[in-house]
Amino acid sequence: MKVILKNIGKKYEGRDKFTIRNIDIEIEDREFCAILGPSGCGKSTLLRMIAGLTSITEGQLYFGDKLMNRVLPKDRDIAMVFQSYALYPHLTVYDNMAFSLKMKKESKEVIHKRVTEAAKILQIEDYLYSRPSDISGGQRQRVALGRAMVRKPSVFLMDEPLSNLDAKLREHMRVELVRLHKNLETTSIYVTHDQTEAMTMADKIILLDKGKIQQFGKPKEFYDKPENLFVAEFIGSPTMNIIKGKMESGRFVSDLKDIIVTPKDEDQKALKDYDGKNVYLGIRSERFLAKKSEENSFEARVEVIEMLGKEKLLHIRSKNGEELVVSQPGHFLYEIDENHNFTFDLDALHFFDEKTTARIN
Ligand SMILES: Nc1ncnc2c1ncn2[C@@H]1O[C@H](COP(=O)(O)OP(=O)(O)O)[C@@H](O)[C@H]1O
Ligand SMILES: [Mg+2]
Repeated sequence: MKVILKNIGKKYEGRDKFTIRNIDIEIEDREFCAILGPSGCGKSTLLRMIAGLTSITEGQLYFGDKLMNRVLPKDRDIAMVFQSYALYPHLTVYDNMAFSLKMKKESKEVIHKRVTEAAKILQIEDYLYSRPSDISGGQRQRVALGRAMVRKPSVFLMDEPLSNLDAKLREHMRVELVRLHKNLETTSIYVTHDQTEAMTMADKIILLDKGKIQQFGKPKEFYDKPENLFVAEFIGSPTMNIIKGKMESGRFVSDLKDIIVTPKDEDQKALKDYDGKNVYLGIRSERFLAKKSEENSFEARVEVIEMLGKEKLLHIRSKNGEELVVSQPGHFLYEIDENHNFTFDLDALHFFDEKTTARIN
């Protein structure tokens, strides 16, 4: 089912400002779409408007070509999974999953088929006759997902369903959810504040901040072409390096004056109106080259080394004090307090307008 949001906005009663506004996007049939953003930015509000649990103040919501604004949640053909899910403690896993189907007076055969199907996909077949208190947190979360799945909704809504799980299990469930989505072939909308979850799981991401869409698109676009400084800093770990500076005769000169970069022709064209103006230069930690060259190279001291196994993160400081993070392969040898030369990969520069923070190149 295609989900279309036309200029959707929400103003809670008693508040003088809209919590979110001008949400104008289309989520394609069978797509996995993540709603991402910092805590309090309005993610749950948006999801609850799609579910019908919160009223829509302005704009239109369509499922396919049907206007949904005034359709009751129970008539929307959706299933929703929350962060804190309550299973019925006195019912078995099987009965927990069968519950909504029984309420709908489905036949025993249909119920059995759907529950065992879902259990198979979720790998909880062995626990079908256990009670929630006898299984682990991860298994309970899968039961909660199963309970929603058996309803075969046309839109599957999830609000931070993994945030109560420990890191290892979360990593595992991420992959399971992607697999699940493939099997279900249902349009899924997934709320998270965790950029890694959104980047790894979603076909498309809606990144919200301050009640507005900051960017909407594929994960790769967020990484390679963040549309503004907020997106650049929100996506990716470690955070993108941002250097304040000014364009001077086609060159970027840092405010601290010790980093000078001549961008490639294409970027120069985009920057042609910025001579003498302040800009931010962004570069991801893995796009520095640890070598000396005639141009675009600077010297810096290694202050801290974070060993992450496959890579190490060098926290470096340039001569005049610019602090940057450079990623290098884990087996390369570096020592604290050593000085090294670093160069910019010119294919990986991001320029942002100092005033609007919008992307320039
Ligand atoms: N029922 C409500 N009444 C008034 N304000 C609300 C209500 N629910 C949420 N809010 C406010 O709306 C903003 C967004 O909340 P929410 O959508 O829960 O954010 P998120 O899920 O991104 O953390 C917050 O400032 C929150 O306090
Ligand atoms: Mg929320």
